[in-house]
Amino acid sequence: MFELKFRAYCEICKRYLIVIMLKLSFTPLLITTFPTKTKSPRLFSTITNTLTQNPQTVRQNATTKSTNTPPHKLPPKSAYVHLPFCRKRCHYCDFPIIALGSSSAPDNDPRIVNYVQTLCREIKATPENSNPNPPLETVFFGGGTPSLVPPKLVSLVLETLRSKFGVSSEAEISMEMDPGTFDGGKLKVLTDLGVNRVSLGVQAFQDDLLKACGRAHGVKEVYEAIDILKSWGVENWSMDLISSLPHQTPQMWEESLKLTLQAQPTHVSVYDLQVEKDTKFGVLYNPGEFPLPSEDLSAEFYRMASRMLTNAGYNHYEISSYCKSGYMCKHNFTYWKNNPFYGFGLGSASYVNGTRFSRPRKLKDFMNYVQNLEDGVMNCGDDSVDAKDLAMDVLMLSLRTARGLDLKSFGEAFGCDLVLSLCKVYQPYVASGHIVLLDDRRRSITADEFSSLLSDDDKMSEVVAFLRLSDPDGFLLSNELISHAFGVIDS
Ligand SMILES: *[C@@H]1O[C@H](CO)[C@@H](O)[C@H](O)[C@H]1NC(C)=O
Ligand SMILES: *[C@@H]1O[C@H](CO)[C@@H](O)[C@H](O)[C@H]1NC(C)=O
Ligand SMILES: *[C@@H]1O[C@H](CO)[C@@H](O)[C@H](O)[C@H]1NC(C)=O
Ligand SMILES: *[C@@H]1O[C@H](CO)[C@@H](O)[C@H](O)[C@H]1NC(C)=O
Repeated sequence: MFELKFRAYCEICKRYLIVIMLKLSFTPLLITTFPTKTKSPRLFSTITNTLTQNPQTVRQNATTKSTNTPPHKLPPKSAYVHLPFCRKRCHYCDFPIIALGSSSAPDNDPRIVNYVQTLCREIKATPENSNPNPPLETVFFGGGTPSLVPPKLVSLVLETLRSKFGVSSEAEISMEMDPGTFDGGKLKVLTDLGVNRVSLGVQAFQDDLLKACGRAHGVKEVYEAIDILKSWGVENWSMDLISSLPHQTPQMWEESLKLTLQAQPTHVSVYDLQVEKDTKFGVLYNPGEFPLPSEDLSAEFYRMASRMLTNAGYNHYEISSYCKSGYMCKHNFTYWKNNPFYGFGLGSASYVNGTRFSRPRKLKDFMNYVQNLEDGVMNCGDDSVDAKDLAMDVLMLSLRTARGLDLKSFGEAFGCDLVLSLCKVYQPYVASGHIVLLDDRRRSITADEFSSLLSDDDKMSEVVAFLRLSDPDGFLLSNELISHAFGVIDS
């Protein structure tokens, strides 16, 4: 369940920005009484909808002032692999998936075999970024429901990746799995192949809600799946949950969070439902209106998750991600660091050599794309990207994390003046507690200290080392805060 999107209209800069969006990730909410220029709380999520029709967006040529190869241009050490098959489409899903239907026997479904063969051809035909490519450190099988794919085909993909790039023996190899699609035998084969991390798509602990979402499993299958993971000793697994579902009450959400804690996953991902136009939910419901929760209630769901999971010892290391100490998802962290990654398969996105590229979302177009890649006639376009776009990407991605933006290295790459302007534009938000400034030992700078720094640029550059959004209020206001920064970068 992973997708990157590349363009959004910024109402402050009055132009389209190339940005990255995570689908099903946190929906921005405007819940503060703080005066603001921004009138579109769902800025990125709504605007990007109209732009997904043309996913072939390519970026190239990002440069920084540094003469060394900047990190985003180094050869990727991460690969996302899209395995699009599902039993049926969930009512909130607009991902590039292929619904097999309930009668299909995935073990010998020719649609899966053909797709995986094409996927392997794509991997083989991918131009190498450098010779030799460093071995992959992370591989992420997303979907769709990757656990529906027969393990021998997963093995084929891994073998292809190994012979093409190499896969480090320490690599994190994650797979999204849905309750009801695997048993102990299948899990054992997958772990023997090297899969060492599972993202379990639970979404909710109420049968009525699961049914209303069109999920192919119930709560009974959720418990069975958890038992299978535990009895096989899978240490690294994530519970994926969705908040703001239709008819979801605070009591239900609290129950889901409690049951999540009881299951003791080492990682939890919490996504706020985004209602996409071309889905069943998009036809049935309007965001913010019954039976969907109001924006205030969605914000309350977000706060409740943050409070309960943090109190139970999880680190809230990214807007939608929580983990026990040391169990961060390394693959996803490459995104937040703006590091490069390969993408393989239907609709998947890659970021290689400063170029973002989205593969076709329709199977036939994807097949043609792979053929063209093999024939060496792939035109990757030449939408050039400048330092401004790069600065926006780095800023937006860093502000999603608890670490925040490293102002020293941001200043080195994009200029200290920019850092000073950012600090200044955020002054009211430092005062309101939405933004936290930290020194190089990560002690927070008080609003009073900050006021005194405002008159002394040199001191400011020296003292302020990190800028982060507060949890939960800053995270809840992330899109507004990020678009203010875009305004500064763009001016
Ligand atoms: C990584 O991100 C994807 C998409 O947001 C998510 O589905 C997945 O759960 C994440 N991986 C983890 C936390 O295991
Ligand atoms: C792109 O890179 C080429 C050389 O690598 C350089 O001449 C050109 O100015 C760059 N364009 C931009 C927009 O950075
Ligand atoms: C990476 O991009 C640069 C231009 O920015 C180009 O000169 C170089 O050939 C590219 N490398 C590969 C392997 O595509
Ligand atoms: C689980 O993840 C941690 C952190 O990435 C890693 O150190 C550990 O080896 C992993 N455990 C297994 C069994 O793969």
